[in-house]
Amino acid sequence: MTHPIINDLKKRYTTKKYDPNLRVSQPDLMVIIEAMRLSSSSINSQPWKFIIIESDAAKQRMHDTFANNFQFNQPHIKTASHIILFAHNPYYKRENYAQVIEQDIKNQRLQEDQREQAFGAYAFVDLNTDETGNNAPWTKAQTYLALGNTLHTLARLGIDSTAMEGIDSDLISKEFAIELDGYQCGVALAIGYHHKEQDYNQPLPKSRLTTEQVVQIL
Ligand SMILES: Cc1cc2nc3c(=O)[nH]c(=O)nc-3n(C[C@H](O)[C@H](O)[C@H](O)COP(=O)(O)O)c2cc1C
Repeated sequence: MTHPIINDLKKRYTTKKYDPNLRVSQPDLMVIIEAMRLSSSSINSQPWKFIIIESDAAKQRMHDTFANNFQFNQPHIKTASHIILFAHNPYYKRENYAQVIEQDIKNQRLQEDQREQAFGAYAFVDLNTDETGNNAPWTKAQTYLALGNTLHTLARLGIDSTAMEGIDSDLISKEFAIELDGYQCGVALAIGYHHKEQDYNQPLPKSRLTTEQVVQIL
């Protein structure tokens, strides 16, 4: 199939070695940030924070979180252009959804007198919250929508990336405790440009299960 979207998605792949000399431009970074912010989430909850690691000092802190585990991903931290932490709120509450509703009113999507009615959608949060108030599986799932949206955006921009679940969430929670402010990071994304000679993954053909294996049209 030839289509610009399909071509972009076939070209994107998981980079295993970055060129340390190449950096994502500020205009491209602004597009990526705006695409992340525009990501869809259940009831528009947006239970996330996106922490962008750009400076050498922040990269050193992130690098140090690989002290115990997942060292195969560690080289990306200093060679990629940026690392993005996708963090979720493990205890999403009514006050968090109230912020969304206030923003809806500001953006004139809702009228003032629809505020209480809008809280009806919060039933979805209750359905996904345990007796301790934890709803991390649900909020974490929302961050993957933002991740997918970001991967597609990067494909369109011709920027390489590596999604990384191979990260030490506990050490990240400690190292970035102030910035995370109680949120948890379950997945991160390195972005940049691949090393022309040393990225073994780049020349490999794309491989997926067949359409027949994963799609049924009824
Ligand atoms: C949520 C998620 C987590 C991943 N974690 C890692 C990782 O920690 N390290 C890594 O090298 N690749 C990681 N990958 C890359 C996948 O292995 C890769 O996307 C998959 O094999 C498909 O290959 P492609 O991205 O090159 O098309 C991850 C991908 C996703 C979507």
